[in-house]
Amino acid sequence: MEIIMYCVKNITKDLYWVGADDHRQPLFENIHPIPNGVSYNSYLLLDQKTVLFDTVDWAVCREFIQNIESVLQGRTLDYLVINHMEPDHGAAIEEILLRYPDVIVISSKMAFQFMEQLGISNQKNCEIIADGVSKCFGEHTVTFYAAPMVHWPEAMVAFDETDGVLFSADAFGSFGTLNGRIFSDEYDFENEYLDEYRRYYTNIVGKFGAQVGNLLKKAAGLPIQIICPLHGAVVRNNLELFIEKYEKWSLYEPEEDGVLIIYASMYGNTEQVAKTVASKLCEMNLGKIVLYDISAVNMSYLIAETFRFKHLILGSVTYNMDMFPLMHNLLMDMKALNIQNKEVAFIENGTWSCNAANQMKTVIETMKNMVAIEKKITIKSSILPSQTEQINDFTSHLKELWT
Ligand code: FEO
Repeated sequence: MEIIMYCVKNITKDLYWVGADDHRQPLFENIHPIPNGVSYNSYLLLDQKTVLFDTVDWAVCREFIQNIESVLQGRTLDYLVINHMEPDHGAAIEEILLRYPDVIVISSKMAFQFMEQLGISNQKNCEIIADGVSKCFGEHTVTFYAAPMVHWPEAMVAFDETDGVLFSADAFGSFGTLNGRIFSDEYDFENEYLDEYRRYYTNIVGKFGAQVGNLLKKAAGLPIQIICPLHGAVVRNNLELFIEKYEKWSLYEPEEDGVLIIYASMYGNTEQVAKTVASKLCEMNLGKIVLYDISAVNMSYLIAETFRFKHLILGSVTYNMDMFPLMHNLLMDMKALNIQNKEVAFIENGTWSCNAANQMKTVIETMKNMVAIEKKITIKSSILPSQTEQINDFTSHLKELWT
């Protein structure tokens, strides 16, 4: 079938991507910057019955409706599967119900409850589907699997047994618009895709490693050929690469043995220490050394980096007798996202009553499988030549621990 709309894409002979890119919203979930935008993916299956898998955010609804109409070419929509009810995918449900009043909506029991809570009415044709149940739409038989907390409790995924297509909801998603390249093999994974794939995972579903692990176990038993997520590229090649990252992240295993240094500095003095430490560590074969000013980089990027690295150095000025507020925010976010399995060392600064390292250490010690290293660097206002030995001692200790 020839489709005129440029942004509709064929995935298999009878499955179409009918989603849309959003270049306009600056923040995802009104918190995470998306300078490269985001895609809201939706998929339309043309079988004896027509089946739409999920909808889109309201921001791109008009384009979405045009895409659906262009693929349906006059046919009606028989089924709407809602794998995930969060409004970035469920916002256009009511528009679909108004345009196709006889459509049967298939979803989990909890998703229907959420629809009501979100004010979506007219659910006259609802079909609650249970975990592991299959449904035939003609040539295609689709089995539905519960995927609680990936990323909301109502979430499920759908597997098209006929073509091996997994509609994976938020799992395997990414930030970034598609701009016509909807397949992951149209990207350079390491250089173009991985960082935003990681940032999406860590900030959106990073907290739910155990639940992601459960989904991966279910998925491992399926003959998956293609993964169709609700954001980011469709994966049809080298699935192992994407799954391998998920396995690592869900277990909170680092990807790099190197050292991530994040510092909070008001007047450049703590920064100077952090840079000096970075410089010395670079000479010690400790792998990649990465340094960030917490005031200059959005939290979502720092969170992604904390998942990536095994070793962490946090540096902070003392501020109102505590750590710097942005460092507090970072640690609270790390804790909320269940970040685990790191060894953390500290640099602190305080002109009087220096207290930042203690405060940071106290939070780290409340987190699972996190080691707070006792040896630290303390400066009082700025680093003095007499403290050279303290820095050397600190970096030598880290070298012993981390090589
Ligand atoms: Fe993309 Fe959890 O919604």
